[in-house]
Amino acid sequence: MQYKTLSNGVKMPMLGLGTFKVSEGEAYDTVLEALKLGYRHIDTAQIYGNEASVGRAIKDSGIPRDELFVTTKLSPINLGYEQAKSELKISLDKLGLDYVDLYLIHWPSPSNALNQLTWRGMEEVYEQKLARAIGVSNFKIHHMDALLQTAKIVPMANQIEMHPGLYQLPTQVYLNEKNIAMISYGPFMKGEVFVEDGPYYPVLKGIADKHQSTIAQVIISWGIQRGILMIPKSVTPKRLKENLEAQDLFLSVEEIAAINQLNRGRRVYTDPDNNSFVKQS
Ligand SMILES: NC(=O)c1ccc[n+]([C@@H]2O[C@H](COP(=O)([O-])OP(=O)(O)OC[C@H]3O[C@@H](n4cnc5c(N)ncnc54)[C@H](OP(=O)(O)O)[C@@H]3O)[C@@H](O)[C@H]2O)c1
Repeated sequence: MQYKTLSNGVKMPMLGLGTFKVSEGEAYDTVLEALKLGYRHIDTAQIYGNEASVGRAIKDSGIPRDELFVTTKLSPINLGYEQAKSELKISLDKLGLDYVDLYLIHWPSPSNALNQLTWRGMEEVYEQKLARAIGVSNFKIHHMDALLQTAKIVPMANQIEMHPGLYQLPTQVYLNEKNIAMISYGPFMKGEVFVEDGPYYPVLKGIADKHQSTIAQVIISWGIQRGILMIPKSVTPKRLKENLEAQDLFLSVEEIAAINQLNRGRRVYTDPDNNSFVKQS
């Protein structure tokens, strides 16, 4: 397993399991299977509604807590100074954990003041050691700039949409400069990368065939080799294994450049500047 060292020295596995749209019913078996296969990093969130099952699977896996990396996120409807603290306690209770490894603000509010206020609460839970690292998600550069004006602690990570259609190079350069880790979500573009007559398939399939690997593995490896943490989601045991094995695939500089060339600024998820489900002020 490859690790990224966050700015505060915490080590985070480069590859994890995403659990968005994994129901409370499916999450137990999926997480348990993933942990048996060797995953050590699980990404969940308040709004996924599966923290309790994720927590049960972690407990039943018998894996020592300090070998695991668990991320959860503050719901976009729960932004606020007090909420950042009280909602984490609810998440910890559901997860059955004393601390999480990474706690993220799930979506920015259009109100920078509210994001700044929420961040103060995040800093407190970090200081109380309820989270080993804290960060944000879906923050664009302008959201980050505003947050950093008042932050005492620079976020350790930002989880954003990143895939062959949206390579996020400018954001990556910005985050690298500030020593903030970038985590990719939505790596398979809601299935678009697998569409044979789509714009991504020929290049990705060509590289995959050359390495006797799969498109999913090529994308995961492309992200990891760019220094980006990857958290593909699957509830299918065969795919869980396939995705984990992407760590053994090494692409050439030319192959990485060819995938970078596929970027077309395509979002398959909500633009963080046009988000109606987040607390507005
Ligand atoms: N911070 C945020 O706002 C945010 C937003 C979205 C996602 N996320 C996080 O990022 C994680 C990943 O993103 P995502 O869930 O949107 O999507 P994703 O990982 O890009 O794709 C998941 C889909 O791809 C399929 N799949 C997985 N492995 C495959 C493989 N090897 N071959 C073919 N198909 C495969 C899955 O099917 P099966 O499950 O049926 O196998 C599922 O339909 C989420 O689960 C979540 O933890 C965060």
